[in-house]
Amino acid sequence: MTSQSTLLRSLPVDLDAHRLPCHVATIMDGNGRWAQQRGLPRFMGHRAGVDTLKDLLRCCKDWGIAALTVYAFSTENWDRPRDEVDFLMTLFEMVLHRELAEMMAEQVRVRFVGDLDCLPASLQAEIHSAMEITAANTAVQFTVATNYGGRQEILHACRRLAEEVQAGRLLPEQIDEDHFAQHLYTRGLADPDLLIRTSGEQRLSNYLLWQMAYTEIYVADVMWPDFNRQAFHLALKSYQSRDRRFGKV
Ligand code: FPP
Repeated sequence: MTSQSTLLRSLPVDLDAHRLPCHVATIMDGNGRWAQQRGLPRFMGHRAGVDTLKDLLRCCKDWGIAALTVYAFSTENWDRPRDEVDFLMTLFEMVLHRELAEMMAEQVRVRFVGDLDCLPASLQAEIHSAMEITAANTAVQFTVATNYGGRQEILHACRRLAEEVQAGRLLPEQIDEDHFAQHLYTRGLADPDLLIRTSGEQRLSNYLLWQMAYTEIYVADVMWPDFNRQAFHLALKSYQSRDRRFGKV
């Protein structure tokens, strides 16, 4: 653990413990650029990004944030060079395997969302095993969006609902927001309160499009591997300074 992390082990005093987001979503952007800026190959940025992710997860537990959802691989990321895609798939599998004992010790429940059928078979097996083993953990709900696309998720839900209607099990007028959300990959998970995107980019990039209707957005100017507890503290301060009206006055 870095000295920075040790310094901010407990919730900073200028944050209100009663007004923390329950669910934080992140777009972990800038790994490749972080590496290139240091004259390193892009994969080194992804590797450094794992350390950042681990510390953020631990920080959520230390500070009392119940859910963290990260965008690990989008449906568009298959268009990256083959060796980078292969590296990422191997990295996910290796990290999941390596961190399982610690996730159990820290009471982290892990869940993968997305079209998982297209992932390498060995990764799918590791995912299913980690999801099963951690299913009863209660400290932090850690969701990893992998081969995930928000539009694809909505289409997938529409198809399932259309099948139910066609089979005569559902009337179109019974489809309300709650019913629809039950057909998303994220069913059972509350919508994110805060989205953090690193590297200064101001896009949603097809991430949690349904779920983020009222999510507060925070853009951090640092690359993902540099997003430490101090940067998370700033994001939470910004979140607590906002007036969330959900369309009301
Ligand atoms: C975006 O940076 C990052 C990714 C596409 C992958 C992030 C994945 C991890 C940090 C590993 C997570 C591991 C587990 C098991 C959940 P980029 O490559 O788009 O950066 P760039 O914009 O600078 O090119």
